[in-house]
Amino acid sequence: MVAATEQGTPSPPMRRWRDSAAAGALVATLVIACALALSGAPFVLPVLIGAIVTAFAALVRPRAEHRIAAERARSHETARAGIQAVMSGIADPVVVLDSQGNVTMFNSQAKVAMPQLVIGRSFSFAVRSPEVVGAVESVLRDGTVAETEFHEKVPVERSFEVRATPVRIDAALGADASGAIEIVMLFRDVTAARRLERMRADFVANASHELRTPLASLYGFIETIEGPAKNDPSAQARFLAIMREQARRMSRLIDDLLSLSRIELKEHVQPTEEVRLDSVLSEVVDTLTPLAQECRTKIEVDGLNRVLVTGDRDELIRVFENLIENAVKYGQSGGRVEVSIADAERAVSVTVRDYGPGIAPEHLPRLTERFYRVDVVESRQKGGTGLGLALVKHILNRHKARLLVRSELGAGATFEVVFPKSAPEAST
Ligand SMILES: Nc1ncnc2c1ncn2[C@@H]1O[C@H](COP(=O)(O)OP(=O)(O)O)[C@@H](O)[C@H]1O
Ligand SMILES: [Mg+2]
Repeated sequence: MVAATEQGTPSPPMRRWRDSAAAGALVATLVIACALALSGAPFVLPVLIGAIVTAFAALVRPRAEHRIAAERARSHETARAGIQAVMSGIADPVVVLDSQGNVTMFNSQAKVAMPQLVIGRSFSFAVRSPEVVGAVESVLRDGTVAETEFHEKVPVERSFEVRATPVRIDAALGADASGAIEIVMLFRDVTAARRLERMRADFVANASHELRTPLASLYGFIETIEGPAKNDPSAQARFLAIMREQARRMSRLIDDLLSLSRIELKEHVQPTEEVRLDSVLSEVVDTLTPLAQECRTKIEVDGLNRVLVTGDRDELIRVFENLIENAVKYGQSGGRVEVSIADAERAVSVTVRDYGPGIAPEHLPRLTERFYRVDVVESRQKGGTGLGLALVKHILNRHKARLLVRSELGAGATFEVVFPKSAPEAST
């Protein structure tokens, strides 16, 4: 907090000098007047009284002024300390600037968001955004509220809505009627909201694009069958087969989108069923054996002893279907996929390993994003929607389980699902 200055009050040495001069004058006047009165000069009496009153007033007034100014400064300080206390209770960053744009107060949230904030220093040192600096200038120029938004990419990406309001704190506190303008800067962190908006927009664009591609191909074939291939039954049969595959692709995509939205709706509700993981895995392996044979790949299963986890059986089937199907489809060149369960003291983990081409490191962090594919053409050819691993991630979130992906180009890929075991109740 900035200390209030006692405007119009003389400095202490000056005051001391004036007080002692007034006291001296009073004493001198008394001595001279008494001497004259004693010497029998009656006209001296009114002069004597006048002098006494004047000297006494001169002595008392500065003291009173000094006391009033000190009290006002104290109450001003107290009031600003109160403002600071209120600011500390606000969850968003708040900064107060003086009429030169220097920082006079801020709360702890502001210091976290803008570590460069220092009392007395220009606010532009802490926030270098031209939008924010522009808002401060406009408030000082026009005396009206200014709103803006600022985005930063480093050190982390974040966005703030900023509202700069002109206030006259000193005038409101009665400290200074002319009260210089100050600016209250209120920041609202909208990083998460902006990220969600962007994700939603991307998602709608991606989903529309994914649906439009097979739809356009369906339209094209319908026109061909109605026109040039009208009397060509063998071409029609070929086109109908392609059309069926496109329609199947659209329906797979819609199924995956619906599953994803259903899982998201209940993501915060942890499942409570006891599920035998070994039986889930053998069921999935049985389902995928025909696909594996088609891809000339052998699925090897290891350690299928009875293992229980808390979960939702259908959802866990979905997880391992996706992982093993990916391993078979994308790791086909390795000719072998290994599935194993490890039941350790603190966690149960299932590992799906293939010996295919592997995944380059730059793709690993993005694999579970919706519609993210290393090779879009390959994924489409293999009937992929790009939503499989996104679904896996959401289901595992619900199960409080983790997905670990390890891979190197040319050395295959390992997808490991870890179900932590809940810590045993502490014995008392
Ligand atoms: N075992 C794997 N080996 C190599 N690439 C993989 C493997 N598993 C997944 N991928 C890559 O990750 C992408 C996303 O997988 P997924 O979300 O299941 O979508 P898709 O519908 O394409 O299978 C795939 O398109 C593929 O490029
Ligand atoms: Mg997949």
